[in-house]
Amino acid sequence: MSQQTDYFAPMAFEADVADCQVEGTIPDGLNGAFVRVGGDWAFPPKHKDDSIFNQDGYVSRFRIKNGRVDYKGRWIQTERYKNNRAAGRQLYGYYRNPFDAEPEVAHVDQPWRNTVANTAVEVNAGRVFALKEDALPTEINPITLETKGACDFGGKYKSQTFTAHPKIDPVTGELLTFGYEATGLVSDDLWFYVIDRNGNVTRETRIKVPYVSMVHDWAITDKHVIFPVFGYVTDMDRLKAGKIHWAWDRNAPTYYGILPRDGDAKDIRWFKGPNRGIVHTFNARTEGDKVILEAPIFDSNPFPFFPYLDGSKWNAAESRSFIRRITFDLGSKDDGYVEDTLFPDVPVVDLGRVDERFMGKDNRYAYTSFNDPTKPLDRDRVGTGARRITNSYGIFDMKDQTMRSFFAGTTHSLQEVSFVPRSADAEEGDGWLIGTASNYANMNTEMVIADATRPEEGTVARIILPFRASAQVHGRWYNDDQVDFG
Ligand SMILES: [Fe+2]
Repeated sequence: MSQQTDYFAPMAFEADVADCQVEGTIPDGLNGAFVRVGGDWAFPPKHKDDSIFNQDGYVSRFRIKNGRVDYKGRWIQTERYKNNRAAGRQLYGYYRNPFDAEPEVAHVDQPWRNTVANTAVEVNAGRVFALKEDALPTEINPITLETKGACDFGGKYKSQTFTAHPKIDPVTGELLTFGYEATGLVSDDLWFYVIDRNGNVTRETRIKVPYVSMVHDWAITDKHVIFPVFGYVTDMDRLKAGKIHWAWDRNAPTYYGILPRDGDAKDIRWFKGPNRGIVHTFNARTEGDKVILEAPIFDSNPFPFFPYLDGSKWNAAESRSFIRRITFDLGSKDDGYVEDTLFPDVPVVDLGRVDERFMGKDNRYAYTSFNDPTKPLDRDRVGTGARRITNSYGIFDMKDQTMRSFFAGTTHSLQEVSFVPRSADAEEGDGWLIGTASNYANMNTEMVIADATRPEEGTVARIILPFRASAQVHGRWYNDDQVDFG
């Protein structure tokens, strides 16, 4: 195992905690579960500079019922995890490069078999799935967190891959989704699907991308879907040379493909602009001939572990992310768009969320984490953790362009924020901000709950785990009426 001993050392164990310690009071009516999917190294990676996106999948759950909380964490039993366990070592190489795996597990023509299922969770028809963009969804038992296996929706979902960021239409309950590299390694196929609330595939549209790139997240409106294609490039020669899947090409334009939800492949329209990184989005809407996308957008290569194609060194200052609004005019003949930066003084963490009852509609608030340098930091107790501090959630009012914030504490760093409405019919923004925080001083993980209408007052409850839990990439809250958590 790794000799690393700081907060980010691998955890590599499963856990059950009954009746977690709670400081403060869990809000009445908050009954359900905060389900998190992320990764950890069950075995050290073959390459020290590999991407953390290559970590083995891990699913965890804070189960909240009548003010009490249980925690459970389990490895996701992918084929790859089981192969590594059987071998007692890491058999796989660089991120999404089967040519770099040991020959008996390479599966070059079936790359989905190498997934780690480590990115996000989503629910359809009461079924819980762990998602990663290089494979089909992996179904998880919501009560035991045991892995049930891959799901292809009765054979009707044909893409080999499935995004980690499907969207639920708040009106129809449909799950809109897609897969890129849909027909194999470095294929330029992107297939869009609609899956109804009962799990039936009702639509498939097969499109081609302008160049093969990471299409990690996207956005929907009530009339359109928007696919960003940006910066990262790959090809078979690169993979055969044993390199990590993506490199950043400073010369690659950004494309946004806008497809009518009820359109055919010929109806997609590609807009083109300067080199940017669009990993995650907040929301989008259609207003007449205009399609408006709001997202945290990077100026350059978002991730240090994916190298620049030209060999230049990654630096944080060049790759900051700002909240931006992109406006496309479907009535125009040219392929340009307008890009506005809304909060130019606030670099943000690119893990944005909205009140998802407003997905695809005009909405006011965007939520994401950021580091507020005016807030105190207990450097002595935080130690080496000081290099990775994200101490605040921001509530960004996209209409007034004002911001409120929640501060997590002098020794805490926040992971992704989620928004939970106070009730099904509460106004937009009336609810709870939840997420996990790393307490560097005590070397443990805490789930924080804050009132989104009074964020300055701090947490209303903290759920204290007695250890560092495996970090999430993405987490979601589900009420008891959405999923049976037992
Ligand atoms: Fe993501």
